Amino acid sequence: MKRIVILGTGGTIAGQAASARQHVQYRAASIAVADLAAGTQMPSGLDIETEQVAQVDSKDMSVDIWRALATRAAHHLARPEVAGIVVTHGTDTMEETAWFLHRVLAPARPVVLTAAMRPATALAADGPQNLLDAVSVAALPEARGVLACVAGVVHAGRDLRKVHPYRMDAFDSGDAGPLGFVEDGRLRRLREWPDGEPFGLDAMLRADWPRVDIVMNTVGADGVLVDALCALGVRGIVAACTGNGTLSRSLEEALLRAQEAGVAVLRATRIGRGALVEAEGATSALPSAGALTPVQARVELMLRLLQQDMTD
Ligand code: SIN
Repeated sequence: MKRIVILGTGGTIAGQAASARQHVQYRAASIAVADLAAGTQMPSGLDIETEQVAQVDSKDMSVDIWRALATRAAHHLARPEVAGIVVTHGTDTMEETAWFLHRVLAPARPVVLTAAMRPATALAADGPQNLLDAVSVAALPEARGVLACVAGVVHAGRDLRKVHPYRMDAFDSGDAGPLGFVEDGRLRRLREWPDGEPFGLDAMLRADWPRVDIVMNTVGADGVLVDALCALGVRGIVAACTGNGTLSRSLEEALLRAQEAGVAVLRATRIGRGALVEAEGATSALPSAGALTPVQARVELMLRLLQQDMTD
């Protein structure tokens, strides 16, 4: 028997509302992961094990929970009998957790995040099907890497982004496109499994994570927030830029001053798709986060700073 471990962290998939009609008024993170698994008809031939790592609405996801989640996932991945791991999560910050796990685990077996847009008590809840699909993907012998499976679509965790606040197909892979589709329990794969880009676990186990904030370029954006963050002692700033990485003159000047003073800066685009395109042969004074969304770039910058702290 193949063993799949489901790690519960909360979210709407574990949400409870007062009535089956309610989709937006409910309490997320209310139902134990063991009960979610027990209430889902799992594929035959699988041993399902559950562990409640946390029970939060993912707007309250924290570094402490990330540390516990990565540590427990690494523990289960080291067990030879475990074929794959599923993580139940809230949709709101799942793209950040996906990037985090992708960078610290880069697993040779699958770690599949799943979620739901409707609480478990809804008339047509999406959670049970998403959980079933995620378990089916986690059980595939060829699967590897951090993945996400929602609404029948499988995404590489590194490409994941939430693109809709209500619809059940709330996720997208940006320009990369989905990795595949789960159809009647089978995966129709469109492209290669994601390769790992591991940082390793050691750096992230440190208690003192650096503070990194996001500042957005908007009409009228100036350098006041950047200067205030520097005065607060921030270690890194992600600029959520307009268009292809552009910044107002005064925001750019403030970021350059910050960088000069030792604050790590990354530019990402506030647009939901695409990657920053640099002019041929040119290197921008403020480094690019490539295709990362601003929130993923923030996770990336925190991890880079943690790793730098380990080597200093
Ligand atoms: C959450 O992110 O925990 C709540 C929203 C959701 O899961 O859709």
